[in-house]
Amino acid sequence: MSKEPLLEVKNLNAGYYKGKKFYHAVRNCSFVLYRNDFLGLAGESGCGKSTLALAMLRLLKAPGKILSGEIYLEKLNLLELPDEELRKRRWRDFSLVTQSSMNSLNPVLKIKDQMLDVYLEHSTDKSRERANQRLFEVMKLVNVDLKFLDSYPHQLSGGMRQRIVIAMALLFSPKLVVLDEPTTALDVVVQRSIIEQFQELFHKVMFSAILITHDISLLFEITKHIAIMYAGDIVEYGESGEVLEDPKHPYTKALLQAIPSISGELKEYKSIPGRPPDLSKPIVGCSYFDRCDYAFEKCQDVYPGAIRLSENGRWVKCHLYSK
Ligand SMILES: Nc1ncnc2c1ncn2[C@@H]1O[C@H](COP(=O)(O)OP(=O)(O)O)[C@@H](O)[C@H]1O
Ligand SMILES: [Mg+2]
Repeated sequence: MSKEPLLEVKNLNAGYYKGKKFYHAVRNCSFVLYRNDFLGLAGESGCGKSTLALAMLRLLKAPGKILSGEIYLEKLNLLELPDEELRKRRWRDFSLVTQSSMNSLNPVLKIKDQMLDVYLEHSTDKSRERANQRLFEVMKLVNVDLKFLDSYPHQLSGGMRQRIVIAMALLFSPKLVVLDEPTTALDVVVQRSIIEQFQELFHKVMFSAILITHDISLLFEITKHIAIMYAGDIVEYGESGEVLEDPKHPYTKALLQAIPSISGELKEYKSIPGRPPDLSKPIVGCSYFDRCDYAFEKCQDVYPGAIRLSENGRWVKCHLYSK
């Protein structure tokens, strides 16, 4: 795999205004996504995964706001891009599929017509024939029979609608596809089948993907790299297999212990004692300090920067690994 960065997020700070208070949901977050990489983003509910996904694509809406940071898609700084330029690049350069995407399909339009709308709005080529051709191609990619193009959304199952949304996200062969809990609203079996199919797609079509799912065992199984998020910040990053085998951050260790088993059998989840910090208040040292079994004095007072652990890009934000 080439180690050419596609997306670089540097010291991103974002969150939500609640009256005068600012809820600092994404804190000082940095990571790199390489070209043709498949990155998983894991962390407890409420840790800021969706806010990060929206902010890094500049799709965060009020009361949400990006306070500071840099986001480069290739060499382009997304935070400095005029709105109109950014709008043009959505769908073409990057696309986002969320849990609610399948419900945002227009109920009064046939699938075919809404896919055509998206295609013709964003394509420089306005030929209907070529648009149809592309529709057929992406429908085949997601294994949906072409006859469903003539259906209305309500005539389709949730799984089918979400497959169609994924097909739409691929219309322009974007460089980056972000999936935020794309299957959470669906039946467990359907969830797995869609995500596994997405992984096959990933190998067939060249793009980079970021996947967020609460099915952490599946996430580790199918992604190449993993980023572990806690209290708005990515605290550990590395190759999925390495992180799974040998987690470094105490939070990652606790999170992995909380997974019933990596094969996904249902056992009792072990919850991590304590609660995440209040994100509307400043955090001085390590955000995991309160819950950490290994914490020492420095952890409370000093923010842990990223410490490189290996040549292949693995890093952790934890004082245990500083000299
Ligand atoms: N639209 C919003 N307005 C205010 N607060 C929000 C909004 N969306 C999310 N939050 C808060 O930001 C924090 C991070 O949320 P989110 O990014 O959705 O986390 P995750 O996706 O990891 O579950 C949560 O505590 C949540 O309550
Ligand atoms: Mg979320």
